Order: sequence, then C-alpha cells, then structure tokens
Amino acid sequence: MIIVFMGPPGAGKGTQAQKLSSAFNIPALSTGEMFREAIKAQTPTGLKAAEYVNAGNLVPDEVVVGIVEERILQPDCANGFILDGFPRTLNQAEALDKLLEKHNLTLDHVFCLDVDEEEIVRRQAGRLVAPKSGRVYHVSSNPPAVAGVCDESGEELVQREDDKEDVVRHRLHVYSEQTEPICAYYERKDMLERIDGMQGVDEVFADLSSRVRSKMAA
Ligand code: AP5
Repeated sequence: MIIVFMGPPGAGKGTQAQKLSSAFNIPALSTGEMFREAIKAQTPTGLKAAEYVNAGNLVPDEVVVGIVEERILQPDCANGFILDGFPRTLNQAEALDKLLEKHNLTLDHVFCLDVDEEEIVRRQAGRLVAPKSGRVYHVSSNPPAVAGVCDESGEELVQREDDKEDVVRHRLHVYSEQTEPICAYYERKDMLERIDGMQGVDEVFADLSSRVRSKMAA
C-alpha cells in the first residue's frame, strides 16, 4: 500500500499519516520531519536544507528526491509506506513516478486534505510537536493527556520554528504557487482523492481508513 498525502501546511497530513501508519502498520515518511532531524543533527543535508525550511521555502528537488529514494528502500517499507509532504512540485511528482517504476511499485492513493486558510493559521498557531517521536498535538483540538508532555515518549513538547504567523502565511503562498498545481497532474491520472480536512481528526481518519480498506479488499 503506497499513499501520498497532499494539502496545505497545517492541513493535518502528519496527524493522519501517523494514524494510518499505526492502523495499517506501514511507516509514515515525512520529508519535513526528515529535514528537521537533519537540521538538528547538522548533517550535510541539514546544513543545505536549514535556510529553506526556516524561511518556509521548498528545499531543492534534487535534495528531496535523493532522501526519499534512500528512505523507501529501507526494509520497513517492504509492505508499503505513506509519503507525507512529498511530492510538492511537478518535478518531484514526475521523479516519484520514475522511482516507483524503477522499483516496480504502484501508487494506491493520492489524498489531498482541503482546509481553509484561517483554520490553517489557527491550527499551526496551536501546534505542539515532540521533537524525538515526531508526534503532533494541538493545544485545544488535539491536546496531550498532560499539558506540554508527549503521551508516547514523555518528552517536552515544543513549537516549530516555521509556525510563526508570517512564515505560515508564506508557506501557504508557496503551497498555492508550487504544490497546488500538481493536483491537476494527479487529476489527469484520475488518482486525486479530495478529503474534507475541515472535519475533526477522527472523522477525517474514518473517511481515509475506509478508502484504504476498500482498496485493499478490491
Ligand atoms: P512539512 O513538515 O511537510 O510541513 P507542511 O507541509 O507545511 O505541513 P505541516 O507539517 O505544517 O502540517 P500538516 O499538514 O502535517 O499538519 P499537522 O498534522 O501537523 O515541511 C516543512 C518544510 O520542509 C517545508 O516548508 C519545506 O521547507 C521542507 N520540505 C518538506 N517536504 C519538502 C518537499 N517535498 N520538497 C521541498 N521542501 C520540502 O496538523 C497541524 C495542527 O492541526 C496540529 O496541531 C494538529 O494537532 C491539528 N490538527 C490536525 N488535524 C486536525 C483536525 N482535523 N481538526 C483540528 N485540528 C487538527
């Protein structure tokens, strides 16, 4: 099962990718998370990516495609994987098709979560993340059991560098300019599944998981 998640920043891609990952036992691969980890560890990729990520711009395609190919060839991806935040440009979408063809793999779902701009700003202003486990919370709509602490790892929750309102608005602009156009690419292939991301976390998850189950049963 290979799934792509698209949608504007803060639409809930990471939240739903993690839930599907637990339910269907396939890894959720977030390119944003890979970059944040590389930046923290100051690896060569992290050093290249930092200026783009912190300003809310896209990291160059060749850097992204390289880390995705390396990751999907790991043994835990043998039964499938969920791509959260990749592809994000037409070049990346075409590169993904080539990668899948090269490794004899097929894409099963391309989900796009639709959420309006003010809700996106609200969601990101209240977002808290666990830096090590990568789990995502929201102060009011998806709070941890104990305020400020990750339910899973017990680590302290923090706010992301790129969640400041001006950077969020810039990321939304980048999304509409560079990523939204690839919806048409998947529409032409009759693969795009638009999901109402304005619903609550559980309702969105119920919609997604029933689509995944029907495809598995087909
Ligand atoms: P990335 O980490 O992918 O950021 P993003 O796409 O901007 O998405 P977010 O992680 O901000 O949001 P999300 O949709 O996952 O929402 P979440 O579930 O957290 O990328 C960061 C940066 O890395 C990019 O700007 C770029 O620089 C670089 N990058 C990454 N991939 C790249 C690529 N392919 N090419 C080039 N550069 C790349 O939810 C948000 C909040 O809302 C949370 O608080 C959550 O609890 C809450 N929430 C979620 N769902 C709901 C709901 N249904 N109702 C109410 N609240 C909800």
